[in-house]
Amino acid sequence: MKGKRILVTGAAGFIGSNLVEALIKDNHVTGIDNLSSGRMENLNDFLDSKNFTFKKMDVNDTKSLREAMKGAEVVFHLSANADVRRGFGDSTVDFRENAQATLSVLEAMRSQDVSELIFSSTSAIYGNAEVIPTPEIYGPLKPISHYGASKLAAEAFIFSFSNNYGFKSSIFRFANVVGRRGTHGVIHDFIAKLSANSKVLDVLGDGTQRKSYIYVDDCVRGMIELHGKEDGLFNLGTRGTTSVAKIAEMTVSRYSPGAKINYVGGPGGAGWVGDVKYAGLDVTKALRNGWKYDIESDEAVRRAIEEAGVQR
Ligand SMILES: NC(=O)c1ccc[n+]([C@@H]2O[C@H](COP(=O)([O-])OP(=O)(O)OC[C@H]3O[C@@H](n4cnc5c(N)ncnc54)[C@H](O)[C@@H]3O)[C@@H](O)[C@H]2O)c1
Repeated sequence: MKGKRILVTGAAGFIGSNLVEALIKDNHVTGIDNLSSGRMENLNDFLDSKNFTFKKMDVNDTKSLREAMKGAEVVFHLSANADVRRGFGDSTVDFRENAQATLSVLEAMRSQDVSELIFSSTSAIYGNAEVIPTPEIYGPLKPISHYGASKLAAEAFIFSFSNNYGFKSSIFRFANVVGRRGTHGVIHDFIAKLSANSKVLDVLGDGTQRKSYIYVDDCVRGMIELHGKEDGLFNLGTRGTTSVAKIAEMTVSRYSPGAKINYVGGPGGAGWVGDVKYAGLDVTKALRNGWKYDIESDEAVRRAIEEAGVQR
């Protein structure tokens, strides 16, 4: 991707800021964020770049978004409520921030004749899949969290808008993404708990939960290299998986050696209602299209544990 005018929603977030960093080398990027979970400090290194403009804005404000999209050729839509557990207590947040916000992006694109959308979806749309690693063609899709449901709804609107108005669209279903500028997820929960109590780490679930982790650089490169290929629907993850018990042991050994790990249990051994206990993505399609990841699941976790400590 070179010489394009690109708009990135969720630009001040974890993955969004890493994406901006990669894109501004060869393109002009307008970053949009309402700073609900994103941080301006994630963008500090790029604010002076002639290739970057930041606009604080809510993606659900379609009128302002339309203005911001004038002249854009490509939209990367990453803004979301990315906190899966939050939706259990507030059952409206995922609909508003993920489904409705995507409709707002699509309406703004339609009015400005923006021709290409690249969207960050999630493995959570597969729910408790009976086939692991799960391929893109797996179904029926039965998400078990409002987060997964709202992302599936967003995907459905992207398909219908693409069909009705001739957009090009690419949808990437990410595994758990970890690494530089990460702010949420299991590693950050563990480090925060250990800073509050260095003697005991309470772990949600039974520790056997097992998921695929992908390092953020591999994820960002995947979106850039694969968009527009085949039918535009890709899983992005690694072939390996890492258990919660292993993440707990690695985090304790790095930050609080000797701390006791206490598994507090959860529904069916998962961490919370809506937590998918076993998740692994079949990434054959992405690999067949020329993308390669550099870092396997365990190593992605190890690096992220190291980097999370440096950030604090
Ligand atoms: N991190 C992961 O493991 C993971 C896995 C699968 C999918 N994803 C998806 O990747 C994308 C990025 O996730 P992330 O981990 O960087 O999360 P994040 O919370 O760091 O980033 C989301 C960004 O969106 C912004 N935002 C939220 N609502 C907004 C709104 N209404 N208007 C404008 N900005 C808004 C937030 O302030 C934040 O900067 C999300 O769509 C998420 O669902 C992430």
